[in-house]
Amino acid sequence: MSLKFKDLLGLEHLDKKNLQEILNFVKTFKGLFKKSDKASVLRGKTVVTLFYEPSTRTRTSFEIAAKRLSADVINISVNSSSIVKGESLIDTGKTLEAMGADYIIIRHVSAGTPDILAKNLGISIINAGDGFHEHPTQGLLDLYTIYERKKRIEGLKVLLIGDILHSRVAKSNIWALTKMGAEVLVSGPSTLIPRSIENLDVKVYYNLDEAVREADVLNVLRVQFERQQENLFPSIREYVSLYQLTKEKLAMAKSEVLIMHPGPMNRGIEITSEVADTPNAAINEQIVNGIAVRMAVLYLLGAVKRGNASSN
Ligand code: CP
Repeated sequence: MSLKFKDLLGLEHLDKKNLQEILNFVKTFKGLFKKSDKASVLRGKTVVTLFYEPSTRTRTSFEIAAKRLSADVINISVNSSSIVKGESLIDTGKTLEAMGADYIIIRHVSAGTPDILAKNLGISIINAGDGFHEHPTQGLLDLYTIYERKKRIEGLKVLLIGDILHSRVAKSNIWALTKMGAEVLVSGPSTLIPRSIENLDVKVYYNLDEAVREADVLNVLRVQFERQQENLFPSIREYVSLYQLTKEKLAMAKSEVLIMHPGPMNRGIEITSEVADTPNAAINEQIVNGIAVRMAVLYLLGAVKRGNASSN
């Protein structure tokens, strides 16, 4: 086993070998999950979820994954914890560590928050989404879903559509896919494409039709209304007319194109229901793969000997 990290903070610093190793373990754990089996590899370990932002998929799938590996799971509700009395992030983390937590899975509105915990605690920290920065387990489950359906990553053209600026999912997808040899295309309104995209190995299309014709995979991103400080496109109607994935747009794509969405979906905004529910869509498979990915990540971090480990 070559993965030597104490924490999973992002995919930027993982290499192709690390990613391939995780994918191999995901396949094993998906088999276990599908057979409704449990493994005892995390018996006696405690996993704490600490979510400062809402979540359905990520928090629940981490809980299911941890329980399938026989860990104990504690979910901290931020609104009814001592955080509302002003306790600092580090003190909260140290309190959980003193109580015997082996992992903290954290989602936070601010980029870099998981890194702060990782530097201050000896236990494993897993980033479940930090601001606009990264959502590594989503990036891994997207990578695995593409690999499972297409049988390869290398040489595929993967198009990320929509709100790239606010999307931590997009950032983790870009790191993972480019390291694995895919070509990443992005398309969205110019105001939702960050300037820093020039530093990444991606191709920008402002015309969605052109990009859709090229792509093997369409990963539709949620429009993140809650993160927009200002109106970054003139109206929902205009966004829908230019960037919604419709059956007319899908008709321009390759017949075997794979459609993905990280969820939660704004049906009728970034994607129509008829496209989300076509056989080309793997949105439900992404959810199942999310459990297997999180089992693999918990297992791999748990297998690391604490003394040898570093943050990724
Ligand atoms: N994709 C994702 O992170 O979904 P949740 O916000 O429901 O966890």
